[in-house]
Amino acid sequence: MRKTIVAGNWKMNGTSESIRALLDGITAGVPVVDGLVTLVCPPAVYLSQVKEQLGNAPVVVGAQNVSAQPKGAFTGEWSLEMLQDLGCEYVILGHSERRSLFKETDADVADKVDATLTAGLTPILCVGETLAQREAGETLAVVATQIDAVVQRIGIERFASVVIAYEPVWAIGTGLTATPEQAQEVHAAIRAQLTGSGMKVADKLSILYGGSMNAGNAAELLAQQDIDGGLIGGASLKADEFLTICAAAAESRK
Ligand code: PGA
Repeated sequence: MRKTIVAGNWKMNGTSESIRALLDGITAGVPVVDGLVTLVCPPAVYLSQVKEQLGNAPVVVGAQNVSAQPKGAFTGEWSLEMLQDLGCEYVILGHSERRSLFKETDADVADKVDATLTAGLTPILCVGETLAQREAGETLAVVATQIDAVVQRIGIERFASVVIAYEPVWAIGTGLTATPEQAQEVHAAIRAQLTGSGMKVADKLSILYGGSMNAGNAAELLAQQDIDGGLIGGASLKADEFLTICAAAAESRK
């Protein structure tokens, strides 16, 4: 059975104090269930603090981005070696905010996925269509192109170590959520695409949904056959709401 992953993407939010309180709230109620991974992705400057506070708590830590370069004169960047050093296990890559605001291309994202796998961390590769693309009937083609850029770079064999997050851009931070049927359709198409590209274990790949997932809609989304967790922004900043989503994820594994 594939892993279920509930990942909190805290984006550029919090202070050392608010993050301490949020993490206290999460660790107080996080469910421990076989095959369920609870992940928090704080701003990079708080990674050490979070890792230290967690101790042996059953929550893993990820970054929201990383450089594909190993080291050197790249002001404002951080490397995979640094993330390893801090005990990070996952890296969110190709988030739509990175693609649109920071002009990351499919090729940049593929470089980062490649470097992340080489370093032994797990990339969470984000893909998704804009509203205009959905309305033009291009959703599956857009997502397929974003995924194929990575497959071409790393090879289909290594894709077994990737986690995908399908995040329709129009649903991120907007309060609009894809319906369970809309999300399921894309998730199933992604799995079929990877099988078609020669992946033998596409049924083992975790494909998360992201885009205004919250305490109210998580259970319905997570009940879909091909939805294996969530990448959660706004709702991950409130411990009780995040824990409700974690509980729904635990329930979805029964
Ligand atoms: P949201 O963000 O849950 O606030 O829509 C999700 C994301 O950007 O990963």
